[in-house]
Amino acid sequence: MSGRVATMAPLLALVLAASDVGAADPDQAIEWERGWSALRTMDCARCHGRDHEGWAAPSLIASVRDAPRERFDRWVLDGDIGRGMPGYRSQPLVVAELNAIYAYLLARARGEIRAGRPSGAARSAEVDR
Ligand code: HEC
Repeated sequence: MSGRVATMAPLLALVLAASDVGAADPDQAIEWERGWSALRTMDCARCHGRDHEGWAAPSLIASVRDAPRERFDRWVLDGDIGRGMPGYRSQPLVVAELNAIYAYLLARARGEIRAGRPSGAARSAEVDR
């Protein structure tokens, strides 16, 4: 695990440097980044579509917007293999980052961040100005 933390360090520095999101609340920006990264590592987009906006499986953005948190946790951890959703309870990364994954998707649903990497969104917002 410490190796993982070490490789994350430059990434976190990058998030902190991204002023828009980072300056407002660096901890929040880091959480979003971790959630995004976990979704990428687990390749949830393989079924839930590009930017997790739905494909063979429903949009995760719509899911966190419209349903209670408990429902999200139950789907992610237990899944429903009969309907094509694997359970991720045995995946330490998903269990450890469940809050961060949820926070990232909720920020997307609320329009607080754009699709893709949160730090990248902060940087492009800067360029837009
Ligand atoms: C192999 C394809 C597949 C992968 C990979 C996958 N899912 Fe799913 N997921 C599904 C399917 C299919 C459903 C819908 C099942 C149904 O409603 O019939 C679903 C449903 C869900 C739901 C409930 C959606 C709703 O509100 O109805 C959530 C939340 C969810 N998945 C999260 C995730 C997350 C997070 C990951 C990655 C850690 C992931 N899924 C990876 C196929 C997948």
